[in-house]
Amino acid sequence: MDTNIESRVEEILTKLTLKEKVSLLSGIDGWLTAAIERLGITSLIMTDGPHGVRTDHGSPARMTSPATAFPTGVSIASTWNPMLVERVGAALAEETQALGCDVLLGPCVNIIRHPLAGRNFEAYSEDPFVAGKTGTAWVKGLQGKGVGASLKHYACNNQEYERFRGNSVVDERALREIYLPHFEMVVKEAQPWTVMCAYNRVNGVYASEDYYLLTEILRGEWGFEGAVISDWGANHTTVESIEGGLDLEMPGPAKYYGGLLVDAVNIYQIEEESVNNAVRRMLRLLIKAGRLDGKERAGSVNTPEHQALARELAEDAITLLKNEESLLPLNPGSIKTIAVIGPNAAELQISGGGSARVKPPYLVSPLDALRSKLDGKVEVLYARGCGYEEDVHQEQIDEALGLAKRADAVLLFAGMPENFETEGRDRPHMQLPGGRDELIRQAAAANRNIVVVLNCGAPVEMPWIDEVKAVVQMYYPGMEGGNAIANILLGEVNPSGKLTVTYPTKLEDTPAYLNYPGGRDVIYGEEIFTGYRYYDKKGVEPLFPFGHGLSYTTFEYCEIQGQEKGKVGESVRIDIEIRNTGDCPGKEVVQLYVRDLESSLPRPVKELKGFQKVSLNPGESTTVSFELNERAFAFYHPDKRAWVVEPGAFDVLIGSSSKDIRRKAMVIIEG
Ligand code: BGC
Repeated sequence: MDTNIESRVEEILTKLTLKEKVSLLSGIDGWLTAAIERLGITSLIMTDGPHGVRTDHGSPARMTSPATAFPTGVSIASTWNPMLVERVGAALAEETQALGCDVLLGPCVNIIRHPLAGRNFEAYSEDPFVAGKTGTAWVKGLQGKGVGASLKHYACNNQEYERFRGNSVVDERALREIYLPHFEMVVKEAQPWTVMCAYNRVNGVYASEDYYLLTEILRGEWGFEGAVISDWGANHTTVESIEGGLDLEMPGPAKYYGGLLVDAVNIYQIEEESVNNAVRRMLRLLIKAGRLDGKERAGSVNTPEHQALARELAEDAITLLKNEESLLPLNPGSIKTIAVIGPNAAELQISGGGSARVKPPYLVSPLDALRSKLDGKVEVLYARGCGYEEDVHQEQIDEALGLAKRADAVLLFAGMPENFETEGRDRPHMQLPGGRDELIRQAAAANRNIVVVLNCGAPVEMPWIDEVKAVVQMYYPGMEGGNAIANILLGEVNPSGKLTVTYPTKLEDTPAYLNYPGGRDVIYGEEIFTGYRYYDKKGVEPLFPFGHGLSYTTFEYCEIQGQEKGKVGESVRIDIEIRNTGDCPGKEVVQLYVRDLESSLPRPVKELKGFQKVSLNPGESTTVSFELNERAFAFYHPDKRAWVVEPGAFDVLIGSSSKDIRRKAMVIIEG
């Protein structure tokens, strides 16, 4: 802790009346905290959200210009590229400052537990290691430029059904191994200025008043130094919340803090010191944001650099799921006509709905980008092929089929209509809506050279998978998405994104199927077996596994080098050489999983404990090194209430996806 800040905080605290203190603990409107003019304290300004600055909520800040709409959370994570994510965090900070705000409400790191959850597009992964690394990079980038993050939504906020009162019933081991490690990693490695507690309850207690989560674990075990803010409307109590560890009630005006909190002190329900502690944390936050010093906000919004970064991020995320007969990339030199089909080609969805939606200054659709890149070289035909409603209209399909038959290749853009994936509501099913499946089937029958491009944030059923040669997931790629996907399809950029969630064949195969959506109580009955941990354990074949993503080149994984023995409490170093054996430059995400060969409690078949993205020219090779710390071998022992490493043999598995393990080595951990 900075002693200058601490003495300043203590000095101000002595000058504040109880009423003034309490005024700092709730918003005055949707986005601002209270100002105290006589002490030169101005309002802290917050805004959404995780992939661009939200400017449409009427905040009094300088929110006049639109902001860069970056690809959404699932894209950010699908890059598996923390260095790039850090640059995005820095760009978001520049935009936040230019728009007059101090705290950007993100990252959203919640685990993707069920494919239908409405906010999956905003979140990162089914795996806490990926979520933690991605969130850490995002926060470091943002806060490195003097803008505060709000790590959200703490904790077990994994669906929208019953979003305001659902009770996530989670056993201690699953909590520690699946639902908390990424929060822990971001807190320990990046110290976010704020943490936002979730709407839901966790094991019967609202997250906004959960002493165990907010005080014992977050502050006590992990050393969180910042302020806890409530999700908007998530606070329901006065005494329990302040004593539980909630500092700032949002939005304002105060509902359970304010007058009721003053009363709670005056009638001796709580000690004034509980209020003081929360005020100290708010004052530190205000000082960091420069709100006591009239700090000038510089920054810039929607610059050419940010636009280029939005495109680079989208390109780095786009995931090539299938590419039979190397249909992709398309070679404009050898084709004359392309049929572009599907509403999402012309009406690109750049984001899911809700508080994370960003109003962009412009938007490049795939159709526009393809037309401009292929102008004069290839004829680009377009038909919508289907509508947004559920019915199939054969006349619309027929029009598309006419084009498909004439073309050398078909690019069929199938995805979600606006707000089909959104905060506030889970998806009703896992199918593509609006007759898109039927459109794909008929188009595939009309032209075998068909590429399906998905424009959605979460898995969909692909009943036509065997009938199409190629499938590309572009996710919600932000305002530069059209340029990004065109560059991938035409081979100007080699795809290198990898899935951060398992794509199941059908909903019935998914880990939380039997317990979703639950009622008020949502039983996390799959325990630690979320995502690939479940598919591995049950032997259920996914459609596309966690970590999957193809490239236009090939990579060779050489023998694993490194330590064969380690000791409990010490790190283990593992090296592996990777070579680009194809004929174009490309990037590979090298994934390291650990398997415990013998354990006193059931463990997943393997767990991701390291990854690195490397960029290699044809023929080039590089050595990738991993430092596996104690946690890489540990599990949480619920009886001992501690992480334990049981000495013995572990397999280190390195590969290109969770199902494409190329090399294996054994490491003995001695006690
Ligand atoms: C969302 C948060 C968001 C807040 C402010 C809430 O409903 O859950 O993610 O930051 O609103 O818009």
